[in-house]
Amino acid sequence: MMNIHAPGTLLDLEPSRAEFRDAVLSGLSSGTKTIPCKFLYDVVGSRLFDRICDLPEYYPTRTECGLLSLYGDRIAEFAGSRASLVEFGSGSSVKVRLLLLALNQPASYVPIDISREHLMQATTALAQDFPNLSISPVCADYSALEALPSSSIRGSGRRIGFFPGSTIGNFSPQDAGEFLHLVKRLLGPNSLMIVGVDTPKNRSTLEAAYDDAEGVTAAFNLNLLARVNRELDGDFDLTAFRHQAIWNERESRVEMHLISASKQVVHVAGRRFGFTEGETIHTESSYKYAPDCFQTLARNAGYCPRAVWTDEEGQFSIHLLEIAS
Ligand code: AVI
Repeated sequence: MMNIHAPGTLLDLEPSRAEFRDAVLSGLSSGTKTIPCKFLYDVVGSRLFDRICDLPEYYPTRTECGLLSLYGDRIAEFAGSRASLVEFGSGSSVKVRLLLLALNQPASYVPIDISREHLMQATTALAQDFPNLSISPVCADYSALEALPSSSIRGSGRRIGFFPGSTIGNFSPQDAGEFLHLVKRLLGPNSLMIVGVDTPKNRSTLEAAYDDAEGVTAAFNLNLLARVNRELDGDFDLTAFRHQAIWNERESRVEMHLISASKQVVHVAGRRFGFTEGETIHTESSYKYAPDCFQTLARNAGYCPRAVWTDEEGQFSIHLLEIAS
């Protein structure tokens, strides 16, 4: 059993409202306005994100699920029996079910997610379907990983980190390397890390995936302003900003922005922020890596790439990495 904390009880390291306020005030004060993408995931945002995953334009989820179903047995061979699984950004824990079904008697599961309600709902549903699994949820963002000491993770089986969905692409390449370093320290030598990574592709596919016809991604992005209004006494007029998704080929990332439709002034937590017409708030970057580029990043962080699986069209990749002993 893994002993990060008592099974079934929540370890709550959720970012505080003060942290949200400080991040928003500092992001809106900078030359290029920005709000960190981790704040997209309140309860409303997490639900909208679940809807995004089912959209026809959003290929990553179905492609990755297909790969997990196809290659689950291969992963299970590497993992051995009684594995201890730690998932980073578990959301509604849909993909981990495919992994849990493929693994040989998985012993424990630690889902880590920033949205507490979402995490608890997902954990409750999973506990019903996998009664023999010891589940220990952690509400935290990745910066809190340092607070989870490696020495507190115990278990007879292999430790497997699981980071699906290309969420690693929401870090800058430098932060992605630092995150992998943190995970390495948490899981320890000989552990495995499974990472889902989206690949670069044509502009129209990428931009449609982040700006769907139904407008769900636009609602997801604009919810960030609604959240500022709800939690930080903001007065953003949601009709005065519009969602934009652009493929920045040079940086190999899709960027999400909220564009001010006019010159306007907005107040947040007692502070005043001026916007010119067309000025944007950069709310998310989603980096895309070709398989060899991601393997280089992983090697530089101290991992040995053991396998990479892609679909026929090369739309998405799953990397199996081993932490060097
Ligand atoms: C969570 N993350 C990997 C998603 C992505 O594709 O970057 C978030 C997202 N943003 C808009 N659509 C999906």
